[in-house]
Amino acid sequence: MTILGIETSCDETSAAVIKNHQTLSNVISSQTVHNYFGGVVPEIASRIHIQIISKVVDDALKQGNVTIEEVDGIAVTYQPGLIGSLVVGTNYAKGISLRFNKPLIPIDHIEGHIYSGFLEGEDLSFPFISLIVSGGHTSLFLVRSFVEYEMIGATRDDAAGEAFDKIGKLLGLGYPAGPKIDKLSKMGNPNRFDFPRGLINSDDLDFSFSGLKTSVRYFLQKNYPNDIPEQDLYDLCASIQEAIVEVLVSKSLKAISKYRLNNIVIAGGVSANSRLRELSTETFSKFGVKVIIPKMQYCMDNAAMIALLGEFKLEESFGKTNFFNYKFKANPTPKRSANK
Ligand code: KG4
Ligand code: ZN
Repeated sequence: MTILGIETSCDETSAAVIKNHQTLSNVISSQTVHNYFGGVVPEIASRIHIQIISKVVDDALKQGNVTIEEVDGIAVTYQPGLIGSLVVGTNYAKGISLRFNKPLIPIDHIEGHIYSGFLEGEDLSFPFISLIVSGGHTSLFLVRSFVEYEMIGATRDDAAGEAFDKIGKLLGLGYPAGPKIDKLSKMGNPNRFDFPRGLINSDDLDFSFSGLKTSVRYFLQKNYPNDIPEQDLYDLCASIQEAIVEVLVSKSLKAISKYRLNNIVIAGGVSANSRLRELSTETFSKFGVKVIIPKMQYCMDNAAMIALLGEFKLEESFGKTNFFNYKFKANPTPKRSANK
């Protein structure tokens, strides 16, 4: 089967072609203009999606060496995300589905991340734990099949990526600060400053990062009222990163032992973090647990994960589902579980 995927839930315009679970193309156009505003400006995001979506889709088809006529279905992200951005992708997909008479498969963005471990033929089997860490989400899922999963833990306040970005702003690093903190940490000492690890000892699988942000704010006000010397900045970055990563890995390990599983998928923008990749691989290998962290282009927001899940859904429910029902609407809010 050949599936065209379209993803426009936030500030990446992406289109991809998946054939028989293999990626033929995955075009991602990131909107860097938001860096000037210290965060994503929804109105600007949707306008840029409108300007470039047809070009991105054409590029994905060209790079995949397929024509729209050869496509068996169109998968599109319809929730959650910025409403204006979602509207652009869903309506574009509805338009080409009608014009070329192709089944249309609405996909939940978070589900796309949850199942992204299957990209590039990863050897992954159900059930498994999925840790989704991005600028908008930090959640743990118990995943039983393509149609059955439940959220078993989530952040009570900020997402991990949001913590990286907000703390980075306090450090004067601009937006998005996650990749910069990652880079500067390599020159710093992670043990120099002791920042709080929110909820690390709680029995549940929840996260909290707002205390860390507040603690860093007061620490900077007290100790660095003017400039931060270079080495101190590196040490601060490394210590803050360590605090975030340790909690993510510790809670994931708790989930793995609670449900007695031996597979974990870590995905979402923050899974690009080099220390998270290192510590999770190191920790889980000690317990014989397989960690799957998709390649960078599949960790950030991308249409390949949307197309792949679209293909699985089309294969599983063809004949049972009406894939020509255009009544579904773009929806900004996330859901917590899926059951058959
Ligand atoms: O999944 P994503 O591309 O977009 C959504 O938020 O849905 O994730 C973006 C987030 C941002 O908060 C960014 O700072 C963070 O991922 N991020 C990182 C790294 N690369 C991206 N955080 C820490 N280390 C990184 N290397
Ligand atoms: Zn995402």
